[in-house]
Amino acid sequence: MGVLASHYNRASFFSKPSLPPPMNIGPHVLANNLFVAPMAGVTDRPFRQLCRRLGAGYAVSEMVTSRRDLWHTLKTSRRADHAGEPGPIAVQIAGTDAAMMAEAAVYNVQRGAQIIDINMGCPAKKVCNKWAGSALMQDEALAVSIARAVVQACEPHGVPVTLKMRTGWCAAHRNALTLARAFEDVGIQMLTVHGRTREQGYKGQAEYDTIAAIKAAVRVPVVANGDIDSPEKARDVLACTGADALMIGRAAQGRPWIFREIAHFLATGTHLAPPLVAEVRKLLLEHLQDHYALYGEFTGVRSARKHIGWYVRGLPGGEAFRERMNALEDCQAQWQAVADFFDELAVSSDRLPVVATSGVQDNTEQHDRISAEGA
Ligand SMILES: Cc1cc2nc3c(=O)[nH]c(=O)nc-3n(C[C@H](O)[C@H](O)[C@H](O)COP(=O)(O)O)c2cc1C
Repeated sequence: MGVLASHYNRASFFSKPSLPPPMNIGPHVLANNLFVAPMAGVTDRPFRQLCRRLGAGYAVSEMVTSRRDLWHTLKTSRRADHAGEPGPIAVQIAGTDAAMMAEAAVYNVQRGAQIIDINMGCPAKKVCNKWAGSALMQDEALAVSIARAVVQACEPHGVPVTLKMRTGWCAAHRNALTLARAFEDVGIQMLTVHGRTREQGYKGQAEYDTIAAIKAAVRVPVVANGDIDSPEKARDVLACTGADALMIGRAAQGRPWIFREIAHFLATGTHLAPPLVAEVRKLLLEHLQDHYALYGEFTGVRSARKHIGWYVRGLPGGEAFRERMNALEDCQAQWQAVADFFDELAVSSDRLPVVATSGVQDNTEQHDRISAEGA
């Protein structure tokens, strides 16, 4: 029996779906319990705002390095740009040194961060020639000292600190439960757990038993993450983990309306109709305008390609369109091509054709490439 099938058995297909009650992170009351995952090179401000408009209750920024010498680079300053973003503003920091992480936290608080999230979830991130992200889970003492230092630095500012991690370093060293207790003890106020080890990257399937064990063991809110790509999966992950909230990453790429679809299903037990083609056209064209405004013409036209590719994935003519669109070098031509593609699609159908979701796949390569591109 597959991992998912065994979870489905326990989750009960017939339980009434429902979203847990709205939660707080410190003084901040969240709009709902469906979060968009931080994804470097993807969840920039325009995309976060779009997800929030379409039903996500909370969004964390792409990670910002703790390396002071990089804070003034264009990449980091774009990531620290929260203009017009609905609160609470949450900034994720990554690094390997407790003092540097504490300093980075304060730097971001001074620039508007209302919540600081510590990255112990990324499978591959080198900071100062050392592995950061989930690699920190291998060194429990260092991981806890980083959490303690960041909490202590943020406390005088009244800023809560949260942390995102995996289930452990490898199958034989699944220490998320031990770490969760230690993180709670040093004052971490919310824990997000991606149900894979670092060694797995994005391979295999997420498991939710470790998340359920953490939820049962700590008092702070626990967020379940990994492979949630449909309303039914959201219901089942909630049921089998008892988590306080769900975090969705890859399934929101090109499909930011997944949040309202899940929220509707959990509230009513029924499915929303797929979005109108005209609505998707409007959303994507607005997304592109915001994207170009943040990145400018040269970078904007290039970094928008991956988003457009995700929106048209699986649609009739989508693959051929993606290839044509990738050759366009200016924003106006790209924007117009997208408008024309959706106008043509609207002739044959009012609503977006239902396409198979592809959230559950090995995205290790995508993670590394997009994170490295940084936009
Ligand atoms: C392109 C990409 C970039 C990511 N960047 C980050 C990051 O900056 N910080 C982080 O904590 N996790 C990062 N992640 C991991 C996601 O937040 C999430 O934990 C993971 O994708 C599993 O959730 P999903 O199955 O819903 O996608 C990234 C994932 C992808 C695919």
